Amino acid sequence: MSGDLMAIRDDFPILQREVNGRSLIYFDNAATTQKPKVVIDAMTDYYQSMNANVHRAVHTLAGESTEAYESCRENLRKWFSAEKVIFTSGTTEAINLAAHAWGKHNLNKGDVVLLTEMEHHSDIVPWQMLSREIGVELRYVPVAEDHTLDMELLRASMEGVKLVCFVHTSNVLGARNPVEEIVSISKKHGAKVLIDAAQAVPHSRIDFTSMNIDFLACSAHKMCGPTGIGCLLVSPGTFLEMEPFMGGGDMIETVTLEGSTYQKNEHKFEAGTPKIAEAVGWDAAINWLSKIDLQFEHERLLDMARHTANRLRAIPGMTVFGQHTDGDSAVVSFIHDKVHPEDMARLLDARGIALRTGHHCAQPLMEKLGVNGTLRASFYLYNTQEEVETMLSTIESIVERFS
Ligand SMILES: Cc1ncc(COP(=O)(O)O)c(C=O)c1O
Repeated sequence: MSGDLMAIRDDFPILQREVNGRSLIYFDNAATTQKPKVVIDAMTDYYQSMNANVHRAVHTLAGESTEAYESCRENLRKWFSAEKVIFTSGTTEAINLAAHAWGKHNLNKGDVVLLTEMEHHSDIVPWQMLSREIGVELRYVPVAEDHTLDMELLRASMEGVKLVCFVHTSNVLGARNPVEEIVSISKKHGAKVLIDAAQAVPHSRIDFTSMNIDFLACSAHKMCGPTGIGCLLVSPGTFLEMEPFMGGGDMIETVTLEGSTYQKNEHKFEAGTPKIAEAVGWDAAINWLSKIDLQFEHERLLDMARHTANRLRAIPGMTVFGQHTDGDSAVVSFIHDKVHPEDMARLLDARGIALRTGHHCAQPLMEKLGVNGTLRASFYLYNTQEEVETMLSTIESIVERFS
């Protein structure tokens, strides 16, 4: 293990704990990552020394809290190179916000929203709800045999499309979609673009402005930050086309009994007391991540995923999904024809190894793959090759027992 990796691991208190008498091996990072001590400390410190509501009072604590909350927004603006950063509870709320605040007011009956079969439910259900509400048509780009998006069919599906929504990096396959190509096709047809970047932001620096897209949704908890906060990045032009989704609290400018006027900036979409401690934690997470060489880590973790996929493929009866080509994330989904995923996951847990099972909130993709669910190992900055070897030899011995 390199010195850097040891130093990274030392920053994560949870890695000291044992599960079922073994050192924890945490491979459920695509669901949520662990939190470095600086994030935990920043949130504790906020509650211990600064806690107050934001934007509303002139007292010292309120001023400090407001500054801390807005400092996270400023940090995110720089990190993502984005002008408009609206805080949400996560990727799911961010996509719902785009559907309600923009979709409902800018799409009409018969307009097409193009999605893909690879989407997380968070990027399907809000559009289905909108479709029921205002009659937009939903069209889905199929996933091809090789587990990548069928780009020919995407090109052929563009007629009438006003909005293209797609997942940057699949939480099941690890596949990084041809983002630039899809954006270019969409823009050529005059469509807006929303990217679900929940699985992209932990592994790479996203430059929102240069992507030439309209919306990007992500969650803090998948990039070492706390749960309960995420954001919707919006291009300045599209921001002006959005109407508030929820009313009350800080989103107003003035309220009379006859009506209200709204804030002009991001606060317009942040009704009620916001996620202040969470913003403080996310700010600390961004600062922590900024010291990591994400490109180096991305390649290290992808190597781990490739090694895992190859070793698993060598086990009789095992099917491994995804290609693990350059740019993909370190996610390996697999299934064995004799060992049920949940049995395998329980046996792994008995040895302190945490993997995800189930449909991964991507039931249409599961249907396409012809399975009800998979096991999923997903790697992150603090994972080691040694942990991977332990998982692989444990899986090999479990399969041997069942065969
Ligand atoms: C690709 C993708 N989109 C959306 C989400 C939803 O994120 P959240 O639950 O943080 O809103 C996830 C979470 O797993 C995801 O992997």
